Amino acid sequence: MISLLSHRVVFVGGKGGVGRSTISAALGLAASRRGLRTVIAEMNGSETMADIFGRGPVGYAGGELRPGLHAVSITPSAAVEEYLVRQLKFRVLYNLVFGNRFIEPFMNAVLGLSDLISVGKVMDLEWMVDATRPSGLAWDLVVVDAPATGHSLSMLRTPRTMMDITRVGPLYQNARLIRDLLEDHRRTCFLGVSLAEEMPVQEMSEMVARLRAEVPIELTGIVVNGVRPRPFDGDELAAFRAFERWAARHHGPAEDAARTARRMVHRRARHEAQIRQLAATADLPLVEVPLLPHGRRAEDLLDPIALRLEPWL
Ligand SMILES: Nc1ncnc2c1ncn2[C@@H]1O[C@H](COP(=O)(O)OP(=O)(O)OP(=O)(O)O)[C@@H](O)[C@H]1O
Ligand SMILES: [Mg+2]
Repeated sequence: MISLLSHRVVFVGGKGGVGRSTISAALGLAASRRGLRTVIAEMNGSETMADIFGRGPVGYAGGELRPGLHAVSITPSAAVEEYLVRQLKFRVLYNLVFGNRFIEPFMNAVLGLSDLISVGKVMDLEWMVDATRPSGLAWDLVVVDAPATGHSLSMLRTPRTMMDITRVGPLYQNARLIRDLLEDHRRTCFLGVSLAEEMPVQEMSEMVARLRAEVPIELTGIVVNGVRPRPFDGDELAAFRAFERWAARHHGPAEDAARTARRMVHRRARHEAQIRQLAATADLPLVEVPLLPHGRRAEDLLDPIALRLEPWL
């Protein structure tokens, strides 16, 4: 049984454009409505939540989207500055390292420091205390609108990479703390998002395989988003086939209608084939979220999506 809301941190990941932000928003909204004080963490300084919920940018300090639902937009440079200033106490050291055009690329590109610290910031949200709340915690749930596949993978791997490189010292200690939380199955999990199409399915299957091999984070399941509904069920399909044969003998509107319906049947069949492929390769539970009518405001997508996620909450 999947129970996303029993975790403290849920990473939502998948290929670019498949609906990670929309699923994160729907999950966050559902959690907050159940009384969990929830924060959605966006990475790379994006402000999609502000757009979806129709408010101004939330920035690194964060802002409220709805009662009990907040967002923060984590910018790597802001996270690194906050971390180093806190760790090193002296801003001058920060300037020395990050004002140096030779050192900075090395710290970021080679060591993945800004990725580590961005993940560290997510984990900071999990640790954040609030003495005024009965739980003593600022957030009951952190939903991470994770970056697209490749970057998510390197981000989730980065605590281990940093531990391998450093072996001792404060960076090692920090990386270990982050790794321990990331890989604690009771507290942290990963929720995949894919479309029922060839490329996203392939990318999700590869991502799951890589995570299994390299980062033992708990893999809960995969949301298959934007699935075309089945146009006909059981008896209806048999009736449609009969109509199709009849329409083939009668040109005009009947034939056009049959052609349109046939396209819907084929599209659904292609989606089903991809869903079977994903189920077989990723070997994880799947939940389907239908393609909702175009032209709806992004926020209006959230309730029907949350309803589909309900069994996994
Ligand atoms: N089930 C759905 N039905 C209809 N439209 C959807 C559905 N899910 C997402 N969308 C729309 O698809 C677009 C992409 O979704 P979203 O921004 O959530 O994807 P993403 O994976 O976060 O993309 P990016 O890689 O750019 O961050 C948005 O316009 C969103 O409103
Ligand atoms: Mg997004």
